[in-house]
Amino acid sequence: MAYATRDYSNLIGMEGFSETLLRNHFTLYQGYVTNTNKLQELLSSKAKDATNPEYAELKRRFGFEFNGMRLHEYYFENLGGKAALDKSGTLAKKLADAFGSYDAWEQDFRATGAMRGIGWAILYQDDVAGQLFNQWINEHEVGHLAGCKPILVMDVFEHAFITDYGLRRADYIAAFFNNINWGAVESRLK
Ligand SMILES: [Fe+2]
Repeated sequence: MAYATRDYSNLIGMEGFSETLLRNHFTLYQGYVTNTNKLQELLSSKAKDATNPEYAELKRRFGFEFNGMRLHEYYFENLGGKAALDKSGTLAKKLADAFGSYDAWEQDFRATGAMRGIGWAILYQDDVAGQLFNQWINEHEVGHLAGCKPILVMDVFEHAFITDYGLRRADYIAAFFNNINWGAVESRLK
């Protein structure tokens, strides 16, 4: 069954994010949904022939398109919040346990997002041991921790900020933090 594009127009008006930037970002996201569906369709109709480079390249590309779609959904869904994180709540406690303090976690997450290159900063929870990690994802598909669930996802491709912030990625990260929907983030925790 084909994936449907989700509507995130509720985010328009969010402080620190211009309408132009958000609308362009939604269009990019829609491209990943379209391409995920297209690849699924193409792959199902191709002969399952590993010696055929066309089949192999479509297969390799699937992770890029699918993760491009899904990571944007996590990202948009963990934005649009107004309230600060409840520092006595479960998530704050788990972050403090994992990183020494909430502030130490935030510093590490911001540093992960500020790394050179295009990709994503993701706070993951390991489904097996319950541990939390801040992880760098290159492009969309390289670096994921097997079996871990994304808890907080931040896009650090240049399209996520350059319209509003130029090369000032740290300023974008600050705006991102001001708009985190902590309720959505908490609900992903196990
Ligand atoms: Fe993006």
